[in-house]
Amino acid sequence: MAKTVKQLLQEYVVGASGISTAEIIIPPDLKLGDYATNVAFILAKQEGKKPADVAGELKEKLLGTDLAKMADVEVAPTGFINFFLKTEFLDEEIKKDKKIDLGQGKKVIVEYSSPNIAKPIHIGHLRSTIIGDALANVYEKLGYEVVRWNFIGDWGTQFGKLIAADKKWHGNFSDTLKDPIQEMLRLYVKFHEELKNNPELEKEGQKEFKKLETGDEENLIIWKSFRSASLAAFRIIFNKLGIDSEKFVIKGESDYEPRLKPLIEELKNKGLAIESEGALIVELENMPPALLRKTDGATLYMTRDIASLEDRIQNYNPAKILYVVANQQALHFEQLFAVAKKLGWDSTELSHVKFGMVLGEDGKKLATREGKVVALQEVIDRITSLALETVKQKSADLSEEDENKIAHAVAISALKYNDLKQHPHTDIQFDWKAMLDLSGNSGPYIQYTYARLANILSKAGNGPWETSASASVDLEGKLIERKLVNYLDVLIECTTPNALNGLALYLYDLSALANRFYENVRVLDEPDTEKKNARLNLIKVVADNLKDGLGLLGIQTLERI
Ligand code: ARG
Repeated sequence: MAKTVKQLLQEYVVGASGISTAEIIIPPDLKLGDYATNVAFILAKQEGKKPADVAGELKEKLLGTDLAKMADVEVAPTGFINFFLKTEFLDEEIKKDKKIDLGQGKKVIVEYSSPNIAKPIHIGHLRSTIIGDALANVYEKLGYEVVRWNFIGDWGTQFGKLIAADKKWHGNFSDTLKDPIQEMLRLYVKFHEELKNNPELEKEGQKEFKKLETGDEENLIIWKSFRSASLAAFRIIFNKLGIDSEKFVIKGESDYEPRLKPLIEELKNKGLAIESEGALIVELENMPPALLRKTDGATLYMTRDIASLEDRIQNYNPAKILYVVANQQALHFEQLFAVAKKLGWDSTELSHVKFGMVLGEDGKKLATREGKVVALQEVIDRITSLALETVKQKSADLSEEDENKIAHAVAISALKYNDLKQHPHTDIQFDWKAMLDLSGNSGPYIQYTYARLANILSKAGNGPWETSASASVDLEGKLIERKLVNYLDVLIECTTPNALNGLALYLYDLSALANRFYENVRVLDEPDTEKKNARLNLIKVVADNLKDGLGLLGIQTLERI
């Protein structure tokens, strides 16, 4: 298997020190090397020696290996060992294909998006969709087999209410309707308004759900129309976000209905599920019990999640399952994972990839004027119209069609990058201007950099440009090459805490370096052909790398903005 530079260095360091946990870090300042290790501290402690002395001995050992072909080695007075990659090594390294087979075909299920039918997709689902899709892309890039799972919320007592409302007030949900979801929302709201005067309605809703659960044909037909109209509306949104909905395994909560009764029986027989005050629960250590069945006999979200987890493990046999779901559901997943453990389902690593809320410009939770959750469609519309203003200012000569296309791509990039540039656990803020700022830490800035580089490359005939073996780029170029060799390590690091901010930052830094390079050295008008070609080749590698990285974040590159 091909290795990254960091992995190679680590192997040499582990070999020389005998310390299997030796780590390679990237120092904050290039003066301290491209890479460094503190392994001498660990060894010195074990042997009761001074770190700097041990570091000196290690350096000699390392220089006796092939590492000497890759890097110069220096020992800092503190005992850190610093590595400086050799120019020839760097020049060769960046020409290599940026691929690594870390996953070796192991399967990962990434569950993301998971909206609820009969309701608009909202801003929380946006975060799940953006983060989940990018994580799935990164895992795929690293050689995992990825299953993109969409656990649609399409079952539960609320559908009994909606069916009751439909029977009374006749909704219209044909999936060709412009806004079927608004229609469902109207019925749902009406049901709750009427409920205030007529508490009997509650029972009617329960009765209709019971009928649905037991396979009543009429109710099934109504429920199916809710579902298909909702899925059609979701597809339109996914399309706008550049999410390929064909790639989803769509298995929603309803798919597990037939499995719930037998599953509950099995859990009872195993002594895991017990009756408590008329409800059925699983008791858990250090957390509230998981509720499987309410006193009225209805099953719950938790029950369906257990059934779905069983399906995922038994029928897909994944090495990992990621659930990309908001922070608010942290306890739910702790409980689910604890139940899985009790059931002995431990061959699969389970993780809840949590994320925070979306805040508005005022730093408060983003909401409508009435304090309700914001529909995703509204957000997309707003950012797209702002992006259109930017595009119009930047390029006056575009056709209206091109303007709209570019504005759309810029808008989606602004939304996605603003989300991914931060650690998912934190809340993110919607500062619309900053999100679209072509010179700030934004998606459009990176797209703009790409377009600029693509423009240079196309003016120079799109290469490859011939250079002699010894041709090398000067210092500004070296800074870029040093960045480029870290790409795969950055991707690998995205999978350890399942966060993409490292990749976003990498692309931002690379863009900043590329812009500086272009401003400080001559490229198209450089008279020395050898130099010019070496610079063009480097720009090509940077452009390809930006395209690849943005693609992983789900962001489209543009040839112009
Ligand atoms: N449909 C749920 C919601 O919108 C999210 C589902 C999360 N996934 C899961 N396996 N429970 O809140």
